[in-house]
Amino acid sequence: MNGKKMWQGRFTETSNRLIEAFNNSINFDKRLVRYDIKGSIAHVKMLCKIGVLTTAEKEQIITELEAIKDAPFEFQQNDEDVHMAVERILTDRIGPLGGKLHTGRSRNDQVALDMHLYTKHVVLGLINDLQLLCESMLTKADEHIDVIMPGYTHLQRAQPVRFSHHLLCYINMFKRDITKLQHLYEEVDISPLGCGAIAGSTFALDRQYVAKELGLARVYSNSMDGVSNRDFVAHTMFICSMIMMHLSRLSEELVLWCSHEFNFIELSDAVSTGSSMMPQKKNPDVPELVRGKTGRVYGNLLGFLTTLKGLPLTYNKDMQEDKEGFFDTIDTTKTCINVTTVIIENIFVTSKMQEAIDSDFSVATDVADYLAQKGLPFREAHEVTGQIVKYCLEHHILIKDINFEIFRRFSSLFERDIYNFIKPLNVVDRRQTEGGTARCQVEKQLKDMVIYFNELTEKKSKMSH
Ligand code: ARG
Repeated sequence: MNGKKMWQGRFTETSNRLIEAFNNSINFDKRLVRYDIKGSIAHVKMLCKIGVLTTAEKEQIITELEAIKDAPFEFQQNDEDVHMAVERILTDRIGPLGGKLHTGRSRNDQVALDMHLYTKHVVLGLINDLQLLCESMLTKADEHIDVIMPGYTHLQRAQPVRFSHHLLCYINMFKRDITKLQHLYEEVDISPLGCGAIAGSTFALDRQYVAKELGLARVYSNSMDGVSNRDFVAHTMFICSMIMMHLSRLSEELVLWCSHEFNFIELSDAVSTGSSMMPQKKNPDVPELVRGKTGRVYGNLLGFLTTLKGLPLTYNKDMQEDKEGFFDTIDTTKTCINVTTVIIENIFVTSKMQEAIDSDFSVATDVADYLAQKGLPFREAHEVTGQIVKYCLEHHILIKDINFEIFRRFSSLFERDIYNFIKPLNVVDRRQTEGGTARCQVEKQLKDMVIYFNELTEKKSKMSH
């Protein structure tokens, strides 16, 4: 037998089981229980303040709500959703008084509130996770300040860069994600409670009071917007998609660098996996999985945007679809950030990374720059250097191994200092433009990042959730 519904009044028949199971959201929205109860407590306090509940009633309801929050309580299959479950349990405990909780409130503004509070909480969590990831990368960068590696464009060796410079590039991506999350935090710092089902309430609800109780900065200025807005859910999923895209780029490089072909890094055994068939293998499953999970996070975003497309105002049951994909996105993104932090901590840079630079033509730009600095127009310097590279390829040698007389045959501007000029460490250290890969600039980047993250720690302590 299906239990009596809270909205049973106008119905004569009981629900069809299949339909009921399809309609219910309790199995996934139970995750919101903490926020649902928090919202109810603020609502009850306000109802007392405006004279709808007596102080004794308020206290009794709050005591029970606190108890429900702390007890691992049982949901029933026929609890339609978390909001009804909490109200049912409350009423089971204190009788008809429990029925006063929903005065001046609809599940429409209630679920919207829960989603705002939950999002505010997860946004802070994501900022924390990203900060930890960046700090582990900063440590790696600092430890490897003088490791030079080939920098790539088109996945072809381009110019030497510091490994730390490369890592700092990712830190900058995650820093942008953090900035987006900070904006999102402002966006969700708003209370929909009091918007009612759609049009507001006949009770003289004090919406500002409720918002303040919940630590929310402001209230929706249009009740229809308050109950129908799910932009912040889509926005969170977009930011998570960006984070995953950044993580997947990093993961791809880690996978490449672990390969025999690159052999730039080694992952410690603790974070690698073996093959069930090929005994020699040590696989980078974890970065591969992070790269792979990016797809479902994008999928969740696209799915939800499609759900919202063309929805008439205001609340529609379609909007219940704002949960499963969203929760999955949050869980997946959080886990992927955290495992990547562990991976970064378990990376060992091999001598191959450094050696790679000694066996290629990535100093060619500097040969051209050398000639250009001596007055040759860059276009001509580029042409001469191209011929030098061609010569090297034909003779199977590197630029640094060319005889001085041969250099002179290409241009009389070459002096003996060319050999020193093209040493990789000198090559990188000449790039002293702001944001360049010279040691002084990379040290500045590191220093600025440390300051940024110290300030972020300060800011986070002022963000409530
Ligand atoms: N479970 C619903 C949701 O997640 C709660 C709001 C239901 N409102 C309604 N009028 N049926 O969207």
